[in-house]
Amino acid sequence: MELKDGTYRIGGSPVEDLAALAGTPVYVYDAGIIDRQVHRLRAAFTDIPLRVLYACKALTNMTVLRHMRTLGCGLDAVSIQEVEIGLRAGFLPKEILFTPNMVAYSEYQRAVELGVMINIDSLSVLEHFGHDFGDRVPVCIRFNPHIMAGGNERISTGHIDSKFGISIHQLRHVERVLATTGLRVNGLHMHTGSDILDAEVFLQGAEIILEIAGSFPSITFLDLGSGFKVPYKPDDIGTDIEDLGKQLGERLARFNAERTTPVEVWFEPGKFLVSEAGVLLVRVDQVKHTTATVFAGVDSGLNHSIRPMLYGSYHGIVNVSSPEGKPRIYTVAGYICETDTFAWDRKLAEVHEGDLLAFLNAGAYGYSMASNYNSRPRPPEILVKDGKAQLIRRRETIEDLLATQLDGGT
Ligand SMILES: Cc1ncc(COP(=O)(O)O)c(C=O)c1O
Repeated sequence: MELKDGTYRIGGSPVEDLAALAGTPVYVYDAGIIDRQVHRLRAAFTDIPLRVLYACKALTNMTVLRHMRTLGCGLDAVSIQEVEIGLRAGFLPKEILFTPNMVAYSEYQRAVELGVMINIDSLSVLEHFGHDFGDRVPVCIRFNPHIMAGGNERISTGHIDSKFGISIHQLRHVERVLATTGLRVNGLHMHTGSDILDAEVFLQGAEIILEIAGSFPSITFLDLGSGFKVPYKPDDIGTDIEDLGKQLGERLARFNAERTTPVEVWFEPGKFLVSEAGVLLVRVDQVKHTTATVFAGVDSGLNHSIRPMLYGSYHGIVNVSSPEGKPRIYTVAGYICETDTFAWDRKLAEVHEGDLLAFLNAGAYGYSMASNYNSRPRPPEILVKDGKAQLIRRRETIEDLLATQLDGGT
């Protein structure tokens, strides 16, 4: 979002016009920022045979998925439903990596039927799968490198107590399963968490994976997951992708020099690709002065954007209606029947009832984590692309909320 000629704009369109297109609350995505992020990632890893899989859990709108595909991205899917959505959006099975955790074995079987690539992160599944499919269906193996990383404990996935991955210390078990079942391994995977600032963490993880890679002669790729941090606050910094690209490039070149077939490096970013591309636009319904606080109450809540309440995430907030307004302190709260605070004691341009606020960094894990709590419909979504704003999801109605209910009598 930029302030140009006294008006906030997204991809050139005035933000007030975007709100008028679908009403509020509404998610708005800027395709130009998604493009910028994909290109930035590619440019940072030019020395590496790189493949980018978009972690679609971050934002699964079909139009966004199709856009990702036109940018040359594959798909990282964590549920069989994400796989199906990806296929319906036009991804080929070979462009989708299915990386579930703790799912029923039938989801793996369905993934085999659909022909997508499979990533296994448990020894028992590996053994079961190996007995069923032998060398007919190659798999990637997700290892847990035992690295504590990530913005907070709920988004840390690579530490010793984590439910994700097969421990690197269980390598011998893995080798035994492969030997007895004939299962072929085409890739190794790790993902240590989200919001990881330090490029060193990725290098450390890569080093661990490279160390065990010698035990898997048939691999063609190393999937180093994601977790790149993006800036949230005005003075925040993100992961130094360019530095990571340079250092990893050198390390991988040494690794590949000793192999007959070079391996590709895969990343599967969600946040990095779509977080900054999205805003959630909300209207201020009430400005409420209590004895201690001035609340700006908006027409949305944790039902539409749960990250602040779930793990204390920070979203910049801009008063779109008042670019020149005098700064004052507000606590921005939603309309849900429990505490759903988006921001505590935040400096905003003076807020009046009816003002339009924009929550920044809302593209990732915004809509995709939204719910119908308090029987509120989920908001519409707009994509601004090539200077044009298009509604890519309508607002839910009360009929949508009731559509799956069956009459059980009284
Ligand atoms: C396996 C896997 N890959 C990729 C991602 C995307 O992470 P991020 O949005 O931090 O880029 C996640 C996030 O939870 C994940 O679990």
